[in-house]
Amino acid sequence: MKDYEALSKKHFDGQAGEYDQRDTYYYSRNGKISCHDIAEQVRSVPYEALLDVGCGTGFLIDILTKRKSARYCGVDLSDEMIRVAKGKGIRGAAFTVGSADKLPYPDGSFDIVTCSQSFHHYPYPEAAMREARRVLKPGGLYILSDTGIGGVGAWIDNHILFKLAKSGDCHTTNRKGIERMMAAAGFTIADSRQIKAMIYTVTGRKK
Ligand SMILES: C[S@@+](CC[C@H](N)C(=O)[O-])C[C@H]1O[C@@H](n2cnc3c(N)ncnc32)[C@H](O)[C@@H]1O
Repeated sequence: MKDYEALSKKHFDGQAGEYDQRDTYYYSRNGKISCHDIAEQVRSVPYEALLDVGCGTGFLIDILTKRKSARYCGVDLSDEMIRVAKGKGIRGAAFTVGSADKLPYPDGSFDIVTCSQSFHHYPYPEAAMREARRVLKPGGLYILSDTGIGGVGAWIDNHILFKLAKSGDCHTTNRKGIERMMAAAGFTIADSRQIKAMIYTVTGRKK
């Protein structure tokens, strides 16, 4: 298989310095939409520990720490995105370089695991979901927001365009596809919403 992790790392190492400032589709626009949606959903949920997988520059954790004190962790493949996140000096947050399919945390560590605009970069998406489930406490929430499509467009992306792309984009699916994957990974679907034409957020609860 093409080395999607190496491509993602190179792509986001290169974008890190201007990611937050560039509010366009190819930089942080969809990330900001997803992070704000996740932050709204988290507002009514009690939690003590939250992990953001593919946290990038820490945009989501920055919002959340201003609203509620808790233990916040962010993990991302890109050293440079993590460097920018650490540089923000967000109190109560620990940022670590690591991969979504080998999370460097013990079983049952978090009440909530979030994932904003990162899942479509994962070459082993089922493994990433298993890892999210492993680090969640029983009853914990996995909130995944992403951009994706289904049908013929997804087939063309998955079988042709992503094989040519250099951004590390690896696979796409629509909201129903994520719901099916979460159910297969051992989550019950607690919430599912289309927030823009191609952007959705699906929340699973660990059984
Ligand atoms: C579009 S950015 C989104 C960043 C942030 N979550 C946001 O919404 O602004 C995608 C992030 O996923 C990270 N990423 C890609 N593949 C990853 C993997 N296998 N494990 C962990 N992070 C990954 C990238 O390094 C990048 O920071």
